[in-house]
Amino acid sequence: MKSNELYEKAKKVSENAYAPYSNYKVGAALRTKNGKIFTGCNVENSSYGLTNCAERNAIFKAISEGESEFEEMIIYVKSGNIPTPCGACRQVISEFSDDMKISMFSGSKGIESSIRELLPLKFKA
Ligand code: THU
Repeated sequence: MKSNELYEKAKKVSENAYAPYSNYKVGAALRTKNGKIFTGCNVENSSYGLTNCAERNAIFKAISEGESEFEEMIIYVKSGNIPTPCGACRQVISEFSDDMKISMFSGSKGIESSIRELLPLKFKA
């Protein structure tokens, strides 16, 4: 189930998370349809609402580099609750993909889903 390279990258980038407030360090690794990988971690702020999630940071990096066709994302935390993406991240993911596979890991314990399943009846103007 786990694509090893993507898993290792999500794990590695979680170490870069700036999460002094929650201590919940998240890493996300995103593979494009043409095989490129983009990573992101959560970046918190003392004004809590300005925090950016790992998933959105990975997606925004990819879009900034001209890549918008995504195949798969792995989200990783070392321990604790499985990092199912927040509602804002689900909406952002669904902007670019209806069929992206999403795997979520707490350590080596993982579950797999899709954006269709995570965000049914998504908003689309
Ligand atoms: N967080 C993510 O990076 N991704 C999610 O999908 C949910 C939450 C971050 C935001 C915050 O830095 C910390 O996890 C605790 O909410």
